[in-house]
Amino acid sequence: MKNIETTVGIDKLAFFVPHYYVDMTDLAIARNVDPAKFHIGIGQDQMAVNPITQDIITFATSAADQILSPEDKKAVDMVIVATESSVDESKASAVVVHGLLGIQPFARSVEMKEACYAATAGLSLAHDFVALHPDRKVLVIATDIAKYGLKSGGEPTQGGGAVAMLISSHPAILALNADNVALTQDIYDFWRPTGQAYPSVDGKFSNSVYIDAFSQVWDEYCRRNDAHFADFSAIAFHTPYTKMGKKALLPKLETEPEAVQKHLMAQFESGIVYNRRVGNLYTGSLYLSLISLLENSEQLSAGDKIGLFSYGSGTVAEFFTATLVPGFEKHLRKTEHEALLNSRVKLSIEAYESMFEEKIDFNHNTKFADDAAYSIEEIKDNHRIYRQK
Ligand code: HMG
Repeated sequence: MKNIETTVGIDKLAFFVPHYYVDMTDLAIARNVDPAKFHIGIGQDQMAVNPITQDIITFATSAADQILSPEDKKAVDMVIVATESSVDESKASAVVVHGLLGIQPFARSVEMKEACYAATAGLSLAHDFVALHPDRKVLVIATDIAKYGLKSGGEPTQGGGAVAMLISSHPAILALNADNVALTQDIYDFWRPTGQAYPSVDGKFSNSVYIDAFSQVWDEYCRRNDAHFADFSAIAFHTPYTKMGKKALLPKLETEPEAVQKHLMAQFESGIVYNRRVGNLYTGSLYLSLISLLENSEQLSAGDKIGLFSYGSGTVAEFFTATLVPGFEKHLRKTEHEALLNSRVKLSIEAYESMFEEKIDFNHNTKFADDAAYSIEEIKDNHRIYRQK
C-alpha cells in the first residue's frame, strides 16, 4: 500500500450529548414493536433527547469546552461548524460558538452543510490550512439534532449531540493521511426542504445508496492506493444506526481471509459502543464512532491505520485514512465520556413525547432555566441569548 502521510491531524477530541435519553425497549413497547427489532435489527439501545434549552450551539460549545486550553484559544484561526440542524438561515452558528468559547478575535468562523457529511469537508479544509500554517490550529465541530417525528419510520434512528476536534500540526491522537476519495451523486434518499421541520426520507433506498457509496469509494481508494482490508487496523463508519455500517462492510469482506474478517468485525463492535447509546448525531456520527473505537478497542497501537467512511445523504461520500500517533491512548477521554453517558436521565415515553413537541416561539420574549454548562437562557427580540455557567 502507498504511504501518503502528513503530520497534520487530530490533536484533541471530545463529544457531548444532551442529558436525557429514551430506552429503546420502552420505545418499542410504546410503538407495539418487538424490542429485538430496535436492539438487534436496528442496533440501538438508547436514544438521546434534547430539551428546548439545548441546541446545536450549546452542544458544540459543551463539546469544545472540554478540550480547549487558553493557549489553544489563542492559536485557533478558524472555527468550522458542520450541521444540518442550523438555527439561522444567514448567521453561522460558528460565529456564536466562537464568541461563547472566547476564541481570539482574528479568526474565521463558518458553518458548513451537506447532510451528515460536512464535518469531513471541514476536516479536509482544516488539514490544508494547518499544513500551510503549522503554528496555527483549527477547531472543527460536528453538531446536530436528528429528529424524524413521533411514530415515524425513522423515529428509532433519532438522536443528537456534538463532536469537537482540534486540528494541529503536531497531533497527539491521529495524523490525517491526505488520501481522501470523495463521491458526489445527486440522489434524493433523505432531504429537508427549507422550512420543513423534519426530513423527508426514503429509508430503504437510503440504506442501499449508503451501501453502494461505500462500495464505490472503497474500490476507488484501493485502486488509487493499491490498498487492501488487511492494511487496516479498523474502519469507522458514519453510523445513522449501528447496523448500517455493518450492512455496508460485510458484503465487501466476504472474499477476505477469515482472520481479516474477524478482526475488522471485532473492531467494528468497539466503534459502535457509544453510538448504541446515543443514536444518530448526523454530522457527528462518524466521529462519535471514531471516539468509541479509540476508547473501547484493546487492539490498537501507534502506527495503526484506521479507515473512515463518511456519508451524507443527497449524497456525498468519502473514504479517508488516519494513522495513530505514539502515546495517543494518553489523550483519550474515556472516563469523562462514560461519566457523561452514565449521568443522563432516562425519560418515560410520555416525557420524551412532550419534550419532543416543545418549540421555541421567537415572537415572544421568554426566559428559560437550565443548569447545564451551556444553555439557551432567553429569547429576546427574535434571537437566542445563551448562558455560560
Ligand atoms: P423499518 O421499516 O422500520 O425497519 O426501517 P425494517 O423492517 O427494514 O427492519 C430493520 C431491520 O430490523 C431489518 O434488518 C429487519 O430484518 C430487522 P436488516 O434486513 O436491515 O438487516 N428486524 C428484526 N431483527 C430482530 N428481531 C426482530 C426484527 N424485526 C425486524 N423482531 C430504517 C428501518 C432504518 C429504514 C428506518 O428507521 C429509517 O428510515 N431510518 C432513517 C433513515 C436512515 O437512517 N438511513 C440510513 C442510511 S442514510 C444515512 O446514513 C444518512 C442519514 O444519516 C442522514 C444524513 O446524511 O443527513 C440518515
